[in-house]
Amino acid sequence: MPSWLVSTALCVLGCAQPAGVVVTLPTSESALVSVPTDPAFEPALATALREGRTVTVSLQAVRATVRVDGAPVEMLTYNGSYPGPTIVVREGDRLVVQVENKLTEDTNIHWHGLNVPADQDDATLVIPPGGRHAFAFDLRTGSAGTHWYHPHLHGQVASQVARGLFGAIRVLSADDPLAGAGDTLAVLSDARIEAGAAVAGQAAERSNGFEGEVVLVNGRVRPTLTLKPGEVRRIRLVNAAASRYFRLASTAGGLEVVGSDGGLLEHPVAATELLLAPGERAEVLVNAPALEGKVLGLDDLGYDRGTAAHIEAGMHHHEVLDPAASVLFGVVAEGSPAPPWSRPATMRTILAPTASARVREITLSEDHLTQDFRINGRTFDHDRVDLQARLGETETWAVSNTGHMDHPFHLHAFAFQVLDRNGQREGYAAWKDTVNVRAGETVRLAIPFDGYAGKRVFHCHILDHEDLGMMGLLEVN
Ligand code: C2O
Ligand code: CU
Ligand code: CU
Repeated sequence: MPSWLVSTALCVLGCAQPAGVVVTLPTSESALVSVPTDPAFEPALATALREGRTVTVSLQAVRATVRVDGAPVEMLTYNGSYPGPTIVVREGDRLVVQVENKLTEDTNIHWHGLNVPADQDDATLVIPPGGRHAFAFDLRTGSAGTHWYHPHLHGQVASQVARGLFGAIRVLSADDPLAGAGDTLAVLSDARIEAGAAVAGQAAERSNGFEGEVVLVNGRVRPTLTLKPGEVRRIRLVNAAASRYFRLASTAGGLEVVGSDGGLLEHPVAATELLLAPGERAEVLVNAPALEGKVLGLDDLGYDRGTAAHIEAGMHHHEVLDPAASVLFGVVAEGSPAPPWSRPATMRTILAPTASARVREITLSEDHLTQDFRINGRTFDHDRVDLQARLGETETWAVSNTGHMDHPFHLHAFAFQVLDRNGQREGYAAWKDTVNVRAGETVRLAIPFDGYAGKRVFHCHILDHEDLGMMGLLEVN
């Protein structure tokens, strides 16, 4: 096999690798990068061609039949896989992606979480059926983390994501303090399956935001992750659902959060639960149960985000709807014990953003009955620039939700730090690009405008809300 061909191509040809196998990405330099992957649990890896620091990947949006829980389901896929194949790159690489639209509808693609030139991440681009478009951008220093890709065609985003179009991007750093722990990806999503096909939501569901009835982890229903006894595994979670929130807890009690949207935190943070709104990512450490065969799981506790059904039922906001936790995936320990590994106390330094001169007020508002979703009183217009900012400056955005539902606020390209929520200082520093803003809440963000000039969108990541106009245009110059 030629050295430029990433060896994961082997799996495309149907090899059966043991769980936890380490796949080595050959490079033209002397350094080799090992990508821990678990083919039995994770989505397929994208076949990548590496020449020097340039990595080329092809993504074909195509209708295909995949297996969900043993049954064939027709979905919209990238390269025939659901979730789409995971792209693995390193900081400093240049990623080239050839996108081909083999669907019968228009589409496009967005690199969620990556700061790339505006013309390589244009939400107004249309790739018609039969069309192709090549994207190329550098993975900047500091971009290490768990990111993802999905279509961003205004009006069709919820429908295309709900029917299967999304995949993860793992950006590795050369000096990863968690390199000694195992590393596993878990893409969370949901789907509605009717007559053997994944379908989009109905018009009447758009105010709430479409939620599919089948909850999936890496395209599977309640899969099991196998660890070695004593092993500590880093799990990268992506919420790729169109609207569903995941409120995660471990049946073993307690979660150790080590990463967020924009990569690692400064220190591991102990938490009893973790809310993952659509678009958000997190990295947690899972300890294999000492006892062989004992099942530990990651559960979804259920979360009331203020949808109309909950309002009608007279339920109080943010209460547990279903105390019976439902398992997202199980974890078992098997085989020979893992070599001991201890977590570092410090993983990274996250500098506090410099104080900003400018404070912007951003108001999210909704009228559930008329399906009217706005930002600062307006619905999206791609010809209208809503905000202008200066490259190199840092701004504070005070994002207020005057509605009755939660809205996960997302900004393209520029990562931010959450300063406070309703005046309550955020517990720890993290780089984020999506933050849940609860009904009635004001969340203040510090946003350094670093990188590239151009137009970017910000929007609610309940994708129906975005499609209905809860989106604005920012121009940075
Ligand atoms: Cu997940 Cu505008 O994006
Ligand atoms: Cu995005
Ligand atoms: Cu919303």
